[in-house]
Amino acid sequence: MAGGADGAAEVAEAFRELYGSPPDGVWAAPGRVNLIGEHTDYNDGFVLPLALPHTTLAAVARRSDGVLRLHSADVVGGVVELRPDALEPGGGGGWSAYPAGAVRALLDAGHAVTGADIHIASTVPTGAGLSSSAALEVVTALACNDLFGLDVPRWQLARLCRRAENLYVGVPCGIMDQTASACCTESHVLHLDTRHLAQRQVPFDLAGEGLRLLVVDTRVQHELGEGAYARRRATCEEGARALGVPALRDIAPDGLEKALAALDEPVVRRRVRHVVTENARVEQVLGLLDRGETRAIGPVLTAGHASLRDDFEVSGPELDLVVASANAAGALGSRMTGGGFGGSAIVLTEEAGADMVAMAVRDAFAAAGHRAPRVFTAVPSAGARRLA
Ligand code: GLA
Repeated sequence: MAGGADGAAEVAEAFRELYGSPPDGVWAAPGRVNLIGEHTDYNDGFVLPLALPHTTLAAVARRSDGVLRLHSADVVGGVVELRPDALEPGGGGGWSAYPAGAVRALLDAGHAVTGADIHIASTVPTGAGLSSSAALEVVTALACNDLFGLDVPRWQLARLCRRAENLYVGVPCGIMDQTASACCTESHVLHLDTRHLAQRQVPFDLAGEGLRLLVVDTRVQHELGEGAYARRRATCEEGARALGVPALRDIAPDGLEKALAALDEPVVRRRVRHVVTENARVEQVLGLLDRGETRAIGPVLTAGHASLRDDFEVSGPELDLVVASANAAGALGSRMTGGGFGGSAIVLTEEAGADMVAMAVRDAFAAAGHRAPRVFTAVPSAGARRLA
């Protein structure tokens, strides 16, 4: 088994100690941040995520008796043993529902996965809105794909992992996080049309342009499984029904005023306005990146935050404070990223001013009496892969 800085050798060794023989291989799947395009993926819209250097590693060996044995270095407790074919929809299975759900989704799609021993270790912060769940699903699905010679394309693995999360974990998420973890590439953001699942890798060489993207994890926990995310989704579907379109994606920016005038409920109007303007912001950022005008995306990111705060109402005091303090300290733009209700924000800044911006955010948190945030750099990294 190859060693190295990627942690594969350590995870393989831990597997051997746990299960008594070496794994067949080691795989990695990253967490993500989303540059722009929030709460658009379940409206058939556009997203623009990038993979983080933080990954979930899985050492895996095939079994032939239909059993899945799961162990995580990051969870207190021993090996969980279960049969994925006996999983009940609806979730409630704790952390093991993510990998087990991924295997079950492969089985549901007719793929012969006859069981596995799995040991997991992750550097993706959990509960931070950085898609640790998707990383866990995707690393499991990719390992099974390789070990059982399934030949499922990555975009399809992402779909199966979303199904796992919807059905077997019980979170009604969209397709962004799983696709980001499965399909992102180094030094790129991934433009994804979530209706047609068309993808484009867009060059995003921040370091080369003297820029830095900071991630500020507010360390305030969000609970995606709880009602707010599902309620946002339901309200968007209600809006689309009222407007007579399959999804809010079908409202073009120049049709927004007319659409808003046709809606009675102020809350539905606000949600619709966010989704329509957010889709337009994704396309605007894409255009700027294509023209090499990376600095000019800053104000678009900040406008996206205002829309999430005021129209979609999924921000919170800590996220708002990151954006206000970072921008006041000279950042080019910032916004919450992911589902919201806590979690993380991203900040685009000049490389030269990055430390000052980070310090300003930390000072603002201290002055407000918030817990110190965790700040790190988002280097656009590779998607899921086999390490050994
Ligand atoms: C969570 C979900 C995604 C997406 C974002 C909001 O991360 O898992 O599918 O809806 O929230 O953009």
